[in-house]
Amino acid sequence: MIVCFAIQNVLLPTLISLYSNMGAPAPDPVFVLRGAESPVTAVTFLCVAEGQRENYIAAGTQNGKVLLWNLQIKSKVAEWEAHASTSIHWLYSESPDILWSQGRCDSVKAWNIQSSSPHLIATYPLMDYLGFSSSHIIQVNNSTKLLSLPGPSQEGVTVWDVDKKFKISTLMPLDAKAYGSMMQPRWIKMEDIITLAVLYESGRITLWDWANSKILSQHQISENPMCITFDELSQTGIIGTASEKIFVFKIDSDLNISIMKEFSITNAGVSSCVIRPDGKLFAMGGWDSRIRLFSSKKCKPLAVLIYHKKTVECIAYSKGDIEDLGGGFILAAGSSDKSVSLWNIFN
Ligand SMILES: *[C@@H]1O[C@H](CO)[C@@H](O)[C@H](O)[C@H]1NC(C)=O
Ligand SMILES: *[C@@H]1O[C@H](CO)[C@@H](O)[C@H](O)[C@H]1NC(C)=O
Ligand SMILES: *[C@@H]1O[C@H](CO)[C@@H](O)[C@H](O)[C@H]1NC(C)=O
Repeated sequence: MIVCFAIQNVLLPTLISLYSNMGAPAPDPVFVLRGAESPVTAVTFLCVAEGQRENYIAAGTQNGKVLLWNLQIKSKVAEWEAHASTSIHWLYSESPDILWSQGRCDSVKAWNIQSSSPHLIATYPLMDYLGFSSSHIIQVNNSTKLLSLPGPSQEGVTVWDVDKKFKISTLMPLDAKAYGSMMQPRWIKMEDIITLAVLYESGRITLWDWANSKILSQHQISENPMCITFDELSQTGIIGTASEKIFVFKIDSDLNISIMKEFSITNAGVSSCVIRPDGKLFAMGGWDSRIRLFSSKKCKPLAVLIYHKKTVECIAYSKGDIEDLGGGFILAAGSSDKSVSLWNIFN
């Protein structure tokens, strides 16, 4: 705890030397998952059934495989080819039994993972989209679940009603070329309103009225945005970019997006960002192979985690406490170096 407190007030580049000067050990991962044959491009913790003791984590790889580890016994319990020869850009756990995956230039698939040989239960095609965007799901109410996925073409987003298998809308800016490639869609819930935030290569961040394919509001940032995350409680979010710049934004009740803060990290390129479920911290995975942690309130740098040898492609927080790894929220990072590191830090 003393270490955590002391490092809150120092600048990012001095953090690592500070750790060594104080004689405090630099934090290490609590565990590292190996066994992937190719870069790890997506990671998610699975939902836990009531009364279930084991926690599981899933990783997707550049060669289209999904690997499942049991974190109690720390072993791989399943591996299958989810998307033939194409990288997996998104994994999402809907329930302890259902895992979603998205393959690049392929499709979004839902898997029943109850047995050790998971089986496909639904497929939603991606149309002519060649980028690296992920998809996103939101449970609107008991009868409706919405899926947003990349395409058609490089600039579009398609919205599906998952259970009805009905394509609700296609979101395409009128002047699509000026927006550039679609980078990532993200559902945003504001009290009773659900809108879809979409990042574009040109730096535009738009909020869509997904039911009517209309832009509600938008904002322009100076950089190419790579990833977005949002905390419903504080109604603020983080955007990581292809440069050193990070943006903190808020959405007000008129659905107006505004930038609250802008700051820089040492090296350019953030591939993935996530807010811890309690809203207190956020974490970013960098092209420079580092993981950076910040306080949500003041965006103070808290730690730079150095373990991976190549780009950190994806990061995720556990949905709750994981006792088998020391308790508290666990942060997972998947890397091009083919490993997944697990961290128990600032709990
Ligand atoms: C659930 O949400 C959908 C989409 O907003 C809406 O059309 C539907 O009426 C809602 N259903 C109920 C039971 O509230
Ligand atoms: C959804 O279903 C659950 C359990 O059936 C019920 O407790 C809850 O009130 C429902 N929620 C809504 C928004 O209808
Ligand atoms: C939206 O937010 C921006 C930046 O804070 C502000 O300049 C603008 O007036 C706001 N627009 C509306 C419609 O509230």
